[in-house]
Formats: sequence, C-alpha cells, structure tokens
Amino acid sequence: QGAGGARWALRSEVAADARFFGLGGRSAGPRLRDGSYRLWNTDPDGAFGPGDDPLYITMPVQLVVADAGTHLVFHDDSWDGRVTLAEGEEGAGSGHDRPGRCEVRMDGGPLRYWVLVGTPARVLHGWAALTGAAAVPPTWALGHHHARWGFGSEREARRVVEGYAERGLPLSALHLDIDHYRGHRVFTVDRERFPDLPGLAAELRERGVRLVSIVDPAVKAEPGQWVFDSGSAADAFVRDARGRRVRGEVWPGESVYPDFTDPRVRKWWGGLYGERLAQGFSGVWHDMNEPVSFAPFGDPSLPLSARHSLEGRGGDHREAHNVYGLAMARAGYEALCELRPGERPFLFSRSGWAGMQRYGGTWSGDVATGWPGLRASLSLVLGLGLCGVPYSGPDVGGFSGFPSPELYVRWFQLGAYLPLFRTHSAITAGRREPWEFGGEALEHAGAALRERMRLLPYFVTLAHLARRTGAPYVRPVWWRSPEDRALRDCEDAFLLGDSLLVAPVLEQGADRRAVRLPRGLWYDTATGRAYEGPGQVLLDAPLSRIPVLARAGSVIPVQRAAENAENAERACGPVELEVWAPAPGRTGGGVLVPDGGDGWEPREAVRFTTRRREGAVVVEQEGAREVGYPVRVRGEGA
Ligand code: NOJ
Repeated sequence: QGAGGARWALRSEVAADARFFGLGGRSAGPRLRDGSYRLWNTDPDGAFGPGDDPLYITMPVQLVVADAGTHLVFHDDSWDGRVTLAEGEEGAGSGHDRPGRCEVRMDGGPLRYWVLVGTPARVLHGWAALTGAAAVPPTWALGHHHARWGFGSEREARRVVEGYAERGLPLSALHLDIDHYRGHRVFTVDRERFPDLPGLAAELRERGVRLVSIVDPAVKAEPGQWVFDSGSAADAFVRDARGRRVRGEVWPGESVYPDFTDPRVRKWWGGLYGERLAQGFSGVWHDMNEPVSFAPFGDPSLPLSARHSLEGRGGDHREAHNVYGLAMARAGYEALCELRPGERPFLFSRSGWAGMQRYGGTWSGDVATGWPGLRASLSLVLGLGLCGVPYSGPDVGGFSGFPSPELYVRWFQLGAYLPLFRTHSAITAGRREPWEFGGEALEHAGAALRERMRLLPYFVTLAHLARRTGAPYVRPVWWRSPEDRALRDCEDAFLLGDSLLVAPVLEQGADRRAVRLPRGLWYDTATGRAYEGPGQVLLDAPLSRIPVLARAGSVIPVQRAAENAENAERACGPVELEVWAPAPGRTGGGVLVPDGGDGWEPREAVRFTTRRREGAVVVEQEGAREVGYPVRVRGEGA
C-alpha cells in the first residue's frame, strides 16, 4: 500500500497469445507493442507521430484480449507511473509457452485496482458503469467541423463559411482558436479583428453553422484584467507550499492556473462560460490543459510541489497532474448544463483521464502531417474508444505542414467515418479547406463529406448506444470475434458500429488494399460484391473512395438523399433504412435511435430484424405491425 509518495509495483502474467490495448491515447497501435508506456499527461511540444509517447491523455486502464477471454484492468491511481509490456510467445505445441508480462510501477497513490472480465462489449459496458456513461454530443457536432489556428478575422471566418456554402459542402461548425482572443487572454475577444462576434455567430447560425470556442486554462497574471481579478478574489489559482501563486508561461505570457480539483474553483470557472455563450458560441474546445507551461527543459507543466485541493483532501501536483484536464472538463460541462439547461453541452478536451467521457470527447492534438501521422490518427481514436472515450477524431490533414492533395483526401476520407470529423491546422501550416487542394481533391473530399452526412442518423444512433452500452462508435475489427488472432493484430481498419467495416487507405500511392474480414458475409458497399469472412480480400481503393463493407443482414439508418443539401439548420433529416441482404439461411438486424435534436428528451431505440423468406428480404420493426421508415434493400443478388 503506497500512501502519499510511497512507490509500488505490480507484476502480472497473461496468456502467451494475449494482446494489450488501451493506456489512454497512444500514438501507435491500438495494439500496444513491447515497451514502456508512461502515465503522465504530456504536450509532446510540436507535432507528434507514431511512437511519440506519452501524449495528452494517459490512463492506467488496459484491455487484454486472448483466446481465453478479454479482461480490463484499471489501476485507480492518478500518480505518475509506467506500464511495461512484453507480449508472450507460444511454443508451437511444445508446451513451452512464454507468458506475456505486464509491470505497473507507480510513484505513489494507492494500490487499488479493478478487473472486469467478459466479452469486449461486456467489459466496456462494465467500464462505463464504473467510470460513467459517455456524454451524447448534440446532433450538429456529428457533422463536419472546420478549424484553423489563425483565421484572424471575422472576414476570414465568413469567407471560409461562404466557401463551403458556394461549393455545396455541408458544414456544421467553425472553431475559433486563440487568435480571436485579445492578446491570447482567455474569455476575451480581440474587438479589432472580431468587432461583433454575437452578430457573426447569429449570421452563421442562420446558415446552419455553429461557432465553437477554444478555452485554455491558464489566465494571464495581470492585475486589472477581469478574469485574473475575479479568480484572485475567489482564491482560484494554484499555490505552492509556501502559499505563493504558481506562475507558468503560456500563450498570453506569464500566467496562473485555476485549481480545478477544488469544487469551489470549478464553480467560479464555470461562471465564466456565460461570457462565451453571450458571444454566441455553441460549444467549447479545451486546450493546453495537461496543463502546459512552456519550459526550455524539464517537464513543461506545473512544479510537482504545487498544491491542489483534490476535492478538499489536499495534495500536490504529483497526484493532481493527470486529473487536471478531467476536472476542467467537469467544470465546463457542469457550467454549460447549468447555463443552458435545454441543450446538451458540446465540449472536447485535449487532456483527460479515466471517466472524461462523462463530460465530452477529445481529439488527436497536434498530429504531424504525413502518412505516419495519418496512421497515428486511427491508433488514437481506436485506443481511446477502448478506454471508454468514444467521441474523438484527428486534425484532418494533420496539424503541421502542407499535406499533398492525395494525403489530404485520404485523411478526409478516414475522418469522415470518425466521430469528431474536423479539419484543423497550425497557424504556420497550410490551409485545410477542401478546395485548397485542386479540383480532383475537392471532388473526392466532397463525396466523403456527403457520405458522412448521409450516415448522420447512424452516427446519432451510435452516440446514444455509446452512452447506453459503453461500446465506442469506432471499434477494432476483433470486437465481435476476439478469438480471431489475425484480427487482433489488424490495425489498419475498424468497425463503425455493428454494421460497417471501414478500411482507410493509409499508404501513399495505393489504389487497392488488403482487408481482413471478421467471420460472416460482407458486402463491398461500392460494388455490392459479397465476400465471406474470416479471411483476407483485396479491394479496389481508387483515390475517389476507401473500401467500406457492410455486414450482411444489417440495417443502417441513413438520411434520405433528396433532403441532404437542403435545410442546413436541421442537422438530421428524414430517415430511411439501408438494409443489406442477410446471407441465405441467416438473420440480421439493426437499431435506430431517432434524432431528438440537441436537448435531453429521452429517445427510445427502434429495433429491426431482417431475414429471407422465399429468397426475398423481409424487414420487421419490433413492436410494430409495419416498418415505419422507407426501406432500401441492397446486396440482394448474393
Ligand atoms: C495546441 C492545440 O493542440 C492546437 O490544436 C491549437 O491550434 C494550438 N494549441 C493553438 O491554440
């Protein structure tokens, strides 16, 4: 038992065939290879690629998948630590298997852990029961977001929105980064460049586009500035052991840090979100909350001796560091619920810890532009989903540099099937609007974007199911067949819900790719051709599209085509059911959670079953005499 600063270590063995997943948002994987993974939320400082470790969200939770079953282990300890993993090896029937090994070493905190056992779905369900059900984002947040560090002016923001509209590209949200603040001060507006934000917000809202605001935790240490003064009066800022305010360096210069682990401070901070709502923002984007303090060397965060309330218990930064972003998310989420009770908050946060899904999602952070960064984007989303954080996505196109048109298109195509679908880049990087990469790229990105919007009812359904069941929208291909060893090693494809298998192109120059199928019958949705899994197939992947397969028998709620472009304000239009013929002699089904808009109205799931009767595909709606939605059957020839 390591009370306070006493270290402890725990070693365990797992089956020789076991694979490790989880530990938060890791840049390689989702399968965690042999190595040592630090548990300390870190801004990698500059764009990262596969192998950079640790990143912004670390969590002492891992999933172990083996022939014998799946289990999850959670070490409920927020201190700094390290997990060292070594996969086992099988002795090819010789009886000399080498087991897999895992060592958890923590710098302090209690030796207290949970183990959940079952199928992947059961384990994630248990995990959600333990750490909280995922927030359901408002429907508009499941559409397309566009961001950039450095829009720089209202005019530019309008120009971008106009650019989307002119080309018939649906856009749900525009994000304003720190350049709209006055001198990078949080909860302020640079009125020279953004003279009328509420006006801009109202105008964009008319066009179906919401504004989202970045919110950084650090407050410029500047007597006379209202946020600093109000925080000082509330005694909100982190102090050192001698009672002096801890200062750090972030975008606005010398700054102080709210202690979000204090319920009183969360309340004070939450009140500030009223200013954001008054400016017309519909959601918030928490950044720099590892928390960051720029440092020429050493840890770019607060000193370990900094004092924190830790819900009144008292402690220092060694214990509070990893939960700083989580506590900030809580402050923001609770504030938005209170300030605007009729709407579900939209919040996503760069840093966090186990349980952050209660308050919102996250994104990749500064993923490096390049093919390795594209791969890392998928690793992160899959890994976080297995840690109970179902809503995330990368900076499409990468945060840094200038993607080639091909790389941009491939990133966009991947992003279109991930929960948070957002283009974003650094102030020094190239633009990320779909029309900046030439006519061909625009055409292909446009197609991916329209397909995303067509699938919106499916995404809405997956968001509700994530809350109810703990299952992430985006799942590893082994989700329903963890016993399939080849699938456990597959990292370049994923399941979107139960019905779709998405195989993004992650390699330059590829126009076909191998896809490993779980058992059952799968249709290539582009060609309608059926393939029988398990096994590997080679599929066409021209630049115009990535392979997407539908599970035979599945029922996928989609938007009816004609309404797609119209009525931008209503994010989710009328639904029709895309039904993929079940394999002969088999049955199938699907779920729809009808869109209830952006409020809290309870939504009942509607369930469908499919089967074949005398060759024809029959769809039934549970508890109803007739199916209440138009049905379009595909893959019937199979
Ligand atoms: C770091 C964030 O990761 C990035 O997305 C953002 O653009 C910059 N901070 C500037 O706010």
